[in-house]
Amino acid sequence: MVCLGNICRSPLAEGVLAKLLLDSGSDYFVDSAGTSGLHAGESPDSRSIRIAEKHSIHISKQKARKIQLEDFRRFDLILAMDLSVFNDIVALAEAADQQKIHLFLDFAEMGRKDVPDPWYGEMEDFRTVYDLIARACDKIRIKLLKNRD
Ligand code: 4NP
Repeated sequence: MVCLGNICRSPLAEGVLAKLLLDSGSDYFVDSAGTSGLHAGESPDSRSIRIAEKHSIHISKQKARKIQLEDFRRFDLILAMDLSVFNDIVALAEAADQQKIHLFLDFAEMGRKDVPDPWYGEMEDFRTVYDLIARACDKIRIKLLKNRD
């Protein structure tokens, strides 16, 4: 799961999908990163932590990190929270790895749309983002488990 800062959207997507897959008894490894290193080493935004906690998802121990070139080899699926992040990481990846990269909501078959950046927003924006991410992660869980059968 990749966003810009790795403190608002992708930590939520990591936490939600990891929990859904764990609850389904699957052994997928889910991680997140940002295209910017601006917040590297920081905990998720307190508003993301709070909205996740409301849904019994604990993300406060995550630490932001910048995406590394080796991530393109390590991971089978790389989901970008918005088109700008998508374009940035496609440009970083080698041609053979570019097919692993998708727009998050597009992969969830919810349209070729962005998860809006809530960083400059209010708590209400984080609620909206959480709901969008939770809906998408449920669709992604179904897709991943179906592909594994
Ligand atoms: P994220 O949100 O990409 O969802 O983690 C942002 C966090 C920080 C900044 C921008 C977006 N920033 O400009 O510092």
